[in-house]
Amino acid sequence: MDDLSRGANDTELAGLAERDEVGVSIRDLTLPDALDDVGQDFDYIFHLAAIVGVGRVLEAPYEVLDANVTMTRNVISAARGQRSLKRFGFLSTSEVYAGSLERIELPLPTPESAPLVVPDLSRPRTSYMLSKVYGEALCHHAEIPFTIFRPHNVYGPRMGFAHVIPELLQRADQAPNGGELEVYSVNHRRTFCYVEDAVELLVRAVRSSACVGKTLNIGVEEPEISIGELAKLVIATVGKSLTVVPCPPTPGSPERRCPDMSMTAALTGFTAAVELETGVRRTYEWYRSAALPRSAPVH
Ligand SMILES: NC(=O)c1ccc[n+]([C@@H]2O[C@H](COP(=O)([O-])OP(=O)(O)OC[C@H]3O[C@@H](n4cnc5c(N)ncnc54)[C@H](O)[C@@H]3O)[C@@H](O)[C@H]2O)c1
Repeated sequence: MDDLSRGANDTELAGLAERDEVGVSIRDLTLPDALDDVGQDFDYIFHLAAIVGVGRVLEAPYEVLDANVTMTRNVISAARGQRSLKRFGFLSTSEVYAGSLERIELPLPTPESAPLVVPDLSRPRTSYMLSKVYGEALCHHAEIPFTIFRPHNVYGPRMGFAHVIPELLQRADQAPNGGELEVYSVNHRRTFCYVEDAVELLVRAVRSSACVGKTLNIGVEEPEISIGELAKLVIATVGKSLTVVPCPPTPGSPERRCPDMSMTAALTGFTAAVELETGVRRTYEWYRSAALPRSAPVH
């Protein structure tokens, strides 16, 4: 279910919808009656719908907080109405650690047990993380079997351009050979998880009884690389010679973000396996064939 406000009705989705066991429903999950017709026979429900992306959050913080909370309340209400729900999977975010990173000595890699600190409420970016903290709290009190997931920089095909990897790939692809590539937050460090690995972790977690009531990081612990190093990998993937031009850090972007993956690995028996080089290449191949406008202006 998706309202396609950000999701794309592309050939992949159409291909999936053709399968007998798959149903695609276009609907706005913020509406009070959005899920009145879903019945009571679902075994597993994953709630991924949310307004995401720093751009959207800075532009419309009230809407992000309000819509994300409303959607989560509606989906949890439908989950509570199921006859024999095996698991409700809620997609929270690594951003829940943002205030802790700023205010206390947060261990890196960060375990799920780290205390959560509420950042400045007047800052627009806080609205997104708060909507997820609220969603996590709803899960704990909903009296349903749940698992909370905190994804850390999941990337891959079909994610638009509002994420550092597709955005850098797009700009590197369109830059003239021998030219320059502006890179923001060059010294900030991240780990990146290919989408197939993230999906494998989600599926294994909801199938494991050991994960009921647990909060799990989703991501990879290493390699932790700087955005500057990532830009060099992107340039190599695109096959051009470009000079990285360092630009100032994006406001509110944490200097380091790295999940402690030991609990997720122990409970699911799985560790992300797709190497960063491979994942970035696969992402580039998909964007080249499906999404990169060959002569459109760079945003
Ligand atoms: N990708 C990551 O690295 C990452 C990191 C942290 C958290 N998450 C969380 O994981 C989930 C999935 O993230 P994603 O990267 O796939 O983002 P995404 O934007 O691709 O997916 C969210 C989907 O929600 C849909 N949506 C928005 N408003 C809706 C509404 N009113 N009704 C129905 N559908 C609506 C959008 O159209 C979109 O397809 C999100 O909840 C996000 O907060 C992702």
